[in-house]
Amino acid sequence: MSKNILLGITSSIAAYKIYELIRLYKKNNFNVRVVLTKNALNFVSPLVLETLTNEKVYYNQFDPRVDVEHISLVEWADIFIVAPISANTISKCAFGFADNLLTSIFCAFLGSKKPIFLAPAMNKDMYNNPVIQNNINKLKQLGCDFIDCENGFLACGTEGVGRLADIELIYQKTKRLIYQNKKNNCKKILITLGGTKERIDSVRYISNYSSGKMGMAIADWAYNLGFDTTVISTIDFKRNYPILKVNSALEMLEELKKQDFDYLIMAAAVGDFRAENTFEKKISKEDIKDSFELKLIKNPDVVQTIAKNKKENQKIVGFCLTDKDLIACAKSKLINKNLDYIVANEVKTALNTDMNKVTIIEKSGKIISIDLDFKDNIAKKILEVVCD
Ligand SMILES: Cc1cc2nc3c(=O)[nH]c(=O)nc-3n(C[C@H](O)[C@H](O)[C@H](O)COP(=O)(O)O)c2cc1C
Repeated sequence: MSKNILLGITSSIAAYKIYELIRLYKKNNFNVRVVLTKNALNFVSPLVLETLTNEKVYYNQFDPRVDVEHISLVEWADIFIVAPISANTISKCAFGFADNLLTSIFCAFLGSKKPIFLAPAMNKDMYNNPVIQNNINKLKQLGCDFIDCENGFLACGTEGVGRLADIELIYQKTKRLIYQNKKNNCKKILITLGGTKERIDSVRYISNYSSGKMGMAIADWAYNLGFDTTVISTIDFKRNYPILKVNSALEMLEELKKQDFDYLIMAAAVGDFRAENTFEKKISKEDIKDSFELKLIKNPDVVQTIAKNKKENQKIVGFCLTDKDLIACAKSKLINKNLDYIVANEVKTALNTDMNKVTIIEKSGKIISIDLDFKDNIAKKILEVVCD
């Protein structure tokens, strides 16, 4: 069933960015209702908000009414998000003021113990004000979740910490606050993703067609479900969880050796071969007559190396991609590499696509087939199987 998001907007210049956040929520089937402070009417338009949400927009505490909105909206919502939250509203909320519809809702919401998520935005000097920092800390101690302001160019023309967090990161964190199972918070999940890049010279490498989309979808769902999530990736992307950047299979192996985990999901497409000799500088065309030979040597088997020293409580999930007899190949890798699960996927559906079709094989021999679906849905199903 789709979840209900009550979104508060206060009078920060960053308010214009919230249209995009609403689009993300709606695109992903969340119901959204908006409550504004009256000052926020200077920065956003109720007509636009009503069009985007397909709901009435609330800002008048004393409207002629059929119900008491600061209570009925609290009952309706699964989560209350205020983005952006101004210095003024932060301080009112920290001290229990209820002098407008938004602060009255906050007052009741905090008492209801449902999740509250706050995304501040303000000038850097306002953000550095110790009174504001104290009030933020007070709200954190009372159980409100925050997403920190970012450093960067501010609307007032200066630079510093005070910018509203990235809209995509606010969206991701909303999902975690809605879906997380608190028992997962203490479980560490490590996900590798992307195709490794094996260096030839200063500008060239050997890689594969892996987009990293399957691994990203798994990492996003692991984060949403509340796991302590870390990613080792060959691809740059921005998330609320740590992303450790590597290039080659050897770098990935070294990084993996440093990490502890309860679950390891090896979704990366690790190159089987690397160049025996690499060149510090770019090989130029002028240096080569007609051709030159590049000798490839085998990389160590990354997942097998890690799984060799697997602790009893750890679970390792490998991926298998082949044009040959997929299930037989996956079964033999599962056994030979000491894995707990293997996810078998076909070359024609898996690489660089938004959809996939997989078969999960358990150590016990049990086979679970997942039909063609979006990688986002497949990722959730894989986690349900391997992290039960
Ligand atoms: C152009 C402009 C931009 C502003 N931007 C911010 C801001 O980003 N953050 C903030 O805390 N206050 C900002 N303010 C000040 C707030 O609008 C002011 O404190 C207001 O009383 C807050 O009201 P509210 O919390 O009820 O929405 C801005 C004011 C103006 C005129």
